[in-house]
Amino acid sequence: MQDEPLALEIISAVVEAALPHGVPVTLKMRTGWCDAEKNALSLARAAESAGVQMVTVHGRTREQGYKGWAEYETVAAVKAALRIPVVANGDVDSPEKARDVLKVTGADAVMIGRAAQGSPWIFREIGHFLATGEHLAAPLVAEVRRALLEHLQDHYGLYGEYTGVRSARKHIGWYVRTLPGGDAFREHMNTLETAAGQLAAVAAYLDGLAEQMERLPQRQAQRPEACTDLETTP
Ligand SMILES: Cc1cc2nc3c(=O)[nH]c(=O)nc-3n(C[C@H](O)[C@H](O)[C@H](O)COP(=O)(O)O)c2cc1C
Repeated sequence: MQDEPLALEIISAVVEAALPHGVPVTLKMRTGWCDAEKNALSLARAAESAGVQMVTVHGRTREQGYKGWAEYETVAAVKAALRIPVVANGDVDSPEKARDVLKVTGADAVMIGRAAQGSPWIFREIGHFLATGEHLAAPLVAEVRRALLEHLQDHYGLYGEYTGVRSARKHIGWYVRTLPGGDAFREHMNTLETAAGQLAAVAAYLDGLAEQMERLPQRQAQRPEACTDLETTP
């Protein structure tokens, strides 16, 4: 975003390459490089003219990283100026926040990053709330157990056991962060070194929880952690 002509050159090249294959090109950006240079609007306009078919704007600058709060005025300005769908992104962590962000930006959709970590059901919760104005019941503990064990199997399959067990710790931590005994469980889990040990511990923890409650406690919106495991801060 600091070099708008170059960005546009890249965007145009991608659109040109994808067009013959019938592949739509979408663009994701921040509001700008820094507070003094918020050029999302001009870049989004140029991208639309170049043939981009959807734009997502994260309401922070590159300089901000994950600090502060996302602002949605710039997203609203982009939405108002474009004919293609515009997606609002940044700090959406609850059904109410999704509703409010859609309202203030006029955006066609919201995109969710960190709030989905450990809470993959946030999408259906938001969808249900937007459709009905009612909160969906929290997931059954049995469903969480099934989902997390399946997620872990996929994770080990992708990364292999050594790396997978270590990088799965943060995911397990996200699933259990708000659950009773979650902190102690996380500490215990961080001492386990094998996939089998991790799977057994997760299953036992969630079996124990299922004896206490049928469903997860109703989720409280919470400020997502800054994303520290990315090489860059997209
Ligand atoms: C694990 C993770 C991976 C991400 N990878 C990308 C990426 O590849 N490209 C991108 O544009 N943004 C990426 N992001 C940034 C998010 O799309 C999003 O813009 C940012 O996290 C702010 O939204 P949030 O408050 O809902 O998390 C990633 C975020 C997370 C947490």
